[in-house]
Amino acid sequence: MINIAIDGPAGAGKSTIAKRLAKELGYIYVDTGAMYRAMAYYFLKNHISAEDENRIAAACEHVDITIRYQDGEQQVILNGENVNGVIRNEEVGNMASSTSVYPVVRKKLVELQQQLAVKENVIMDGRDIGTVVLPNADVKIYLTASSKVRAKRRYDELTSKGEVCDLDQIEQDIIDRDYRDMNRETSPLKQADDAVLLDSSDLDIDGVVEKMKEIIKSRV
Ligand code: DC
Repeated sequence: MINIAIDGPAGAGKSTIAKRLAKELGYIYVDTGAMYRAMAYYFLKNHISAEDENRIAAACEHVDITIRYQDGEQQVILNGENVNGVIRNEEVGNMASSTSVYPVVRKKLVELQQQLAVKENVIMDGRDIGTVVLPNADVKIYLTASSKVRAKRRYDELTSKGEVCDLDQIEQDIIDRDYRDMNRETSPLKQADDAVLLDSSDLDIDGVVEKMKEIIKSRV
């Protein structure tokens, strides 16, 4: 099976790009952030604080997360409920960043991710894919962009959905999220030694997809 790992900070365009590539290459797209978001959604719904490691550990025993594909789109099933429609907001994203620091949370999800990659050709994106989840991936790409550019992209995405938001606040959230993701003890976000660095600050989606295809072609 061919495994392609894409890591990078929030808002770098990983999921948009990975989805496009998966479609073009006929691979399965695995969005690991959505799994951490589903866990975070469960904690929020049960009023469990991100600081309360004991309650988080206990809650993990009651969380069952599985993945299904519907029309090529990944669906995250949390204890039997499809939560795709409720995990894509800043509250859940920030909670996912805060609670993904716990090894007990990561262990469950890493196992699930590794099982998926054994069975299928996958493009998997996240923070620790090239370093921890798929250390032997055929291709590893570290996709990044400046915090200003990433904040503007997220701002455009949210306002196009009719949400009212503040650009400076979004950039601050992104900077805080980067800091947490890069400085946690377990599986922090970092570029794997054998990953190719791609900065998308000055590229549009088509430009990034083209560059990625070149990188993949040269390695697979
Ligand atoms: O990619 P995303 O914004 O949907 O991810 C939400 C959070 O989940 C992110 O801030 C950190 C965490 N995460 C992680 O720790 N490891 C992954 N492989 C993917 C996401």
